[in-house]
Amino acid sequence: MTQAPRDGGVVRGVRISGIGVHVPQRILTNDDISQFLDTSDDWIRSRTGIRERRIATAAEAPSDLGVLAAVRALDMAGVSPREIELVISSSLIPDMVFPATAAVIAERIGAREAGAFDVQAGCTGFVYALAAAAAFIGAGMYRRVLVVGAETVSKGLDWEDRRTCVLFGDGAGAVVVERSADHELFTFDLGNDGSGAGKLNMPAGGARLPATHDSVSRREHFLKMDGPEVFRFATRTVAESCLRVLQNADLTVDDVDLFVPHQANQRIIASAVRRLGIAEDRVFTNLERYGNTSCASIPLCLEEAMESGRLAAGQRLLLAGFGAGLSWGSAVITWSLDGAPDGDPGRDARGSDT
Ligand SMILES: CC(C)(COP(=O)(O)OP(=O)(O)OC[C@H]1O[C@@H](n2cnc3c(N)ncnc32)[C@H](O)[C@@H]1OP(=O)(O)O)[C@@H](O)C(=O)NCCC(=O)NCCS
Repeated sequence: MTQAPRDGGVVRGVRISGIGVHVPQRILTNDDISQFLDTSDDWIRSRTGIRERRIATAAEAPSDLGVLAAVRALDMAGVSPREIELVISSSLIPDMVFPATAAVIAERIGAREAGAFDVQAGCTGFVYALAAAAAFIGAGMYRRVLVVGAETVSKGLDWEDRRTCVLFGDGAGAVVVERSADHELFTFDLGNDGSGAGKLNMPAGGARLPATHDSVSRREHFLKMDGPEVFRFATRTVAESCLRVLQNADLTVDDVDLFVPHQANQRIIASAVRRLGIAEDRVFTNLERYGNTSCASIPLCLEEAMESGRLAAGQRLLLAGFGAGLSWGSAVITWSLDGAPDGDPGRDARGSDT
């Protein structure tokens, strides 16, 4: 895909001041899935790199996970909910068609006067939401924005379809984005190829195909995907977008301390890493344990990288998302947080992850 050069994409005077995540307690392994579906641990691991994923309870929706992540992010930032001026939430499958999941999260954390809206950009939602937050702050409209990526994708999967259900998992991540006196760098490259809109979608439940008995019996309220086509799109797009965003920032791959790609498939990540020529020890992955958590995958990685000492304040991050749309979004940002010192009892950051 060729894209005309664009000016900018660069925002300064913005920082991430807090991050929080939450993952459900229940672990579903590949072997567990092979008990009820014609698949195997060997097939899933060799084609995707995924070993297990977290699954929300029957009662949980994205906002439930998102609230827990958001509270932790606010706590780390030392920001009270009332100081948040805008909540932007992203989910592949939100709580409801409307109102926005962000509205539910804002109410439940006590950010009652904040603006609230959702971003729908497939699994790229978190990068789009982060770009929107940075742009709102960079334009001088707000000082503190909460960005959430929250998913219970498991609710929208056809558990009889082995080509899709083995790939995804549930989780949530949130960051507080604030105005900063320092000139940290936030640079974005966002794009979309709508000709691929039908390659990854949930056909029914919206206005195009409202819910009927027929639509339910045709299983049209589940996620549908042309896996090989999405695979081709991702392997082509991720490296191209990363190179563009680095160019926007006047940087090269050698300036990147850590590359955090969307965690969809180990083979897609390996292809991007090869094309970018970035060293393996500067790439962060955790999809083996979480699968594709859609809008939550990048913040889940960031928090884990920080807490494990792989990511520290001042380092340059390259983020790359892709997904339904077919959308893509890359970012170069200066990270501004350090992990908790070993054994800090006040930072049970990952919640139920044990
Ligand atoms: C989904 C994906 C793993 C499938 O891998 P693939 O190598 O392309 O496999 P194919 O879809 O061509 O299927 C190959 C065979 O494996 C089978 N297969 C598919 N899923 C399987 C599973 N879970 N277990 C066992 N066999 C499976 C298929 O039925 C097919 O069998 P057939 O040749 O007898 O018809 C891969 O296409 C992919 O990762 N795509 C990107 C998806 C993605 O990341 N989406 C999210 C974007 S945010």
